[in-house]
Amino acid sequence: MIELEKLIRKNVLRLKPYSSARDDFQGSASIYLDANENPYSSEYNRYPDPHQLTLKQKISEIKKAPVDQIFLGNGSDEPIDLLIRAFCEPGVDNVLIPQPTYGMYTVSAEVNNVEIKTVKLTPDFDLDLDSIKSSINDQTKLIFLCSPNNPSGNLLSFDKVKEVITLFNGLVIVDEAYIDFTNQTGFVPLLKQYPNLVVLQTLSKAWGLAAIRLGMCFASVEIVQVLNKIKPPYNISLLSQQAAEAGLKHLERKNRWVAEILHERKELAQQLSKISMVKKVFPSDANFLLVKIDNTKAIYKKLVEIGIIVRDRSNVILCNDCLRITVGTPAENKELINQLNLL
Ligand SMILES: Cc1ncc(COP(=O)(O)O)c(C=O)c1O
Repeated sequence: MIELEKLIRKNVLRLKPYSSARDDFQGSASIYLDANENPYSSEYNRYPDPHQLTLKQKISEIKKAPVDQIFLGNGSDEPIDLLIRAFCEPGVDNVLIPQPTYGMYTVSAEVNNVEIKTVKLTPDFDLDLDSIKSSINDQTKLIFLCSPNNPSGNLLSFDKVKEVITLFNGLVIVDEAYIDFTNQTGFVPLLKQYPNLVVLQTLSKAWGLAAIRLGMCFASVEIVQVLNKIKPPYNISLLSQQAAEAGLKHLERKNRWVAEILHERKELAQQLSKISMVKKVFPSDANFLLVKIDNTKAIYKKLVEIGIIVRDRSNVILCNDCLRITVGTPAENKELINQLNLL
């Protein structure tokens, strides 16, 4: 059991949320004169559903999570920020972030003036439970775990993640942006068991919808209520809701893309490991590869000069001399390999 009321910032607990015109009245009417909209129809003259109910129902079917345990954000980046704002008192509380990982947890904490406790992942990029345990203190409110982890690409050990959720009294946020590239169901089915678990997923990766900015957050009804309380009222535009609903109808297309990307990832990893300057291709459960390579910065620059952009991670903890390479189309991957062979 967690005592959510004790975790929430006092001002958020007290807060009376903004009530939008669409909150005051639900259902349908013939004349809407409540939201100061333009009455002349242009397709987009009305505010969108602030609760995105139709879209949530579709997501609920696919992810097998109840609608009231789903929060949708402007990308996963929005719930990351809202979780920090709801639960961490600036200048007092802290969040724990095993590194290396996705940079937005740190940025959002810093923007909100929330201290970051950094622990290192193990050299094979898994959780170091001892250092996590010894870094948690009374002011630690959130732990961010990313699985599969960006930039290393690997799934974290399932049992270790469970252990962190069990031992910690605050919220554990498991970011599963890349879960569709694995053969795992991830942590959504465990929400019933763990009231302090929050799972993030996104339509930006396997679903191919990064442009519409649609992040999904799965958590207890109480946590979802807290996020709803502090979100901007119309945080998901009608265009994004419609595009998400349309995209989610193509489950087979998403599965086909995933299968193709996984096939290409294997091929790309094999081709990369044959190149002499490539020292290591790390195992990946995601749609990218972390690659240790000689003269990283020079190689990165040369690739940029010929119009191939990868991600230089060489300054990142445990990622010395590493580039992170997204798996592209077969033609893109082939061109990358050809060009690396010429360097
Ligand atoms: C681990 C992880 N989480 C979240 C995101 C961002 O997701 P979104 O596009 O939903 O904001 C990324 C993007 O690279 C990521 O790597």
